[in-house]
Amino acid sequence: MTLDAAPANPGAPAVGGSDRRPDERHPWWSRPGLAAVAGRLEIAGRDAEGLAREHGTPLFIYDRRRFRDNAERLIAALDAAGLRHRVRFALKSNPDPEVLAVLRPLVGIDACSPGEVLRALDCGWTAAEISVTATNLSDRDLDVLLGHAVHINLDAISQVDRLGRRLTALGLPRRSIGLRINPEAGAGYNEKLAYSGERPTKFGIYADRVDEAVATAARHRLPIDTVHVHAGSGWLGDGLGSFEAALERVVAVTRRLIAEGHPIIELNVGGGLGVPARADEQAVDLDAYAAAIARQVAGLDLAVGCEPGDYLAKDTAILLAEVVTVEERAGTEFVGLDIGWNVNCSYFIYKYAQELVVCGAADAPRSRRVTIAGHINEAGDLFAEDYPMTAVDEGDIVALLNAGGYHQAMSSTHCLRPHAEALFLDR
Ligand SMILES: Cc1ncc(COP(=O)(O)O)c(C=O)c1O
Repeated sequence: MTLDAAPANPGAPAVGGSDRRPDERHPWWSRPGLAAVAGRLEIAGRDAEGLAREHGTPLFIYDRRRFRDNAERLIAALDAAGLRHRVRFALKSNPDPEVLAVLRPLVGIDACSPGEVLRALDCGWTAAEISVTATNLSDRDLDVLLGHAVHINLDAISQVDRLGRRLTALGLPRRSIGLRINPEAGAGYNEKLAYSGERPTKFGIYADRVDEAVATAARHRLPIDTVHVHAGSGWLGDGLGSFEAALERVVAVTRRLIAEGHPIIELNVGGGLGVPARADEQAVDLDAYAAAIARQVAGLDLAVGCEPGDYLAKDTAILLAEVVTVEERAGTEFVGLDIGWNVNCSYFIYKYAQELVVCGAADAPRSRRVTIAGHINEAGDLFAEDYPMTAVDEGDIVALLNAGGYHQAMSSTHCLRPHAEALFLDR
């Protein structure tokens, strides 16, 4: 659902949230379009609690303009570093057509399934603008993907072989592929979100088997034109060194493939750029990020692929919920909400930190430590533990920030709790 243009937000700071240090803003999470105005939370110039009372909870509210701001900020940093780049939105983070309509003029698409490719095509992207990096593709998946001129990066030798066999079986011409490399070094918000490292993971071809992957591609006459890496998700300012270390290993593979005569035209550095969830978390310095990539690809004649999900989507939305229980149990104060992990699985699955704001007391001091729980019948259905929170009463409306990436996309009707409605605001 879309609402008409809202009045200007008088309380919003003039400079983009990611362009200012959190300690220069109050509250730290405020940005154009998200602010505490006379103590009340406003998004895109609208009173958040008023929208909850009007539309009910749970309710996602998106600030449509924020997608554009995020994409433009990233593209500007890559431009400033002199990189030839192809930015693609990781559609898995938010496949809502309303979101895709905003991003369509700005970026390409990173897809990870046939369904995502079909969604992107439906929403106006051409096949040439879509890059597929999936895992464990079946013949049925490939039969859909190979029907479109999308570019496919493969993350296992067996997948290279399978794609070659499917082309033959379907009588289709040969096509260029990419290889996803496992750098054996990870970068992520925490260990749940690091996709490579010392422990073997399911993603990518390890350095010791690249020759085998190359031989398999050659046997099927599939030119290798792309090298891909995605080391993990949600990493912040202090993760940039880990990201660069992972990249360095993959660039070494890329240089070797180029030296061996492979027509590499793109190094895809994946997504993974995180967005701070709490005041003490440090945003990624985009200029430093772009400079790290530029340093690594120096002297190589190729484009840099970049496929952020969270960086473009995460801070575009809030999720509103009503407080239905406030009760002490065995020394812990529990705040119970009318939402569950079925609409916000960040903490349940990834142990991702989240900030909760009381809509009617958005900049009030955080005076108590609480555990925030949901309405799904599982003990793990929590949103925060030992969390410093403003005092709340039953009936209050609270906002979970950073709800624009992987919340709506991963929603389910577990316990037959319904999906949340989504409102899209313009400012
Ligand atoms: C291959 C690939 N690219 C991009 C992304 C997007 O990651 P993020 O949302 O952390 O930027 C993912 C996420 O899992 C991924 O697996």
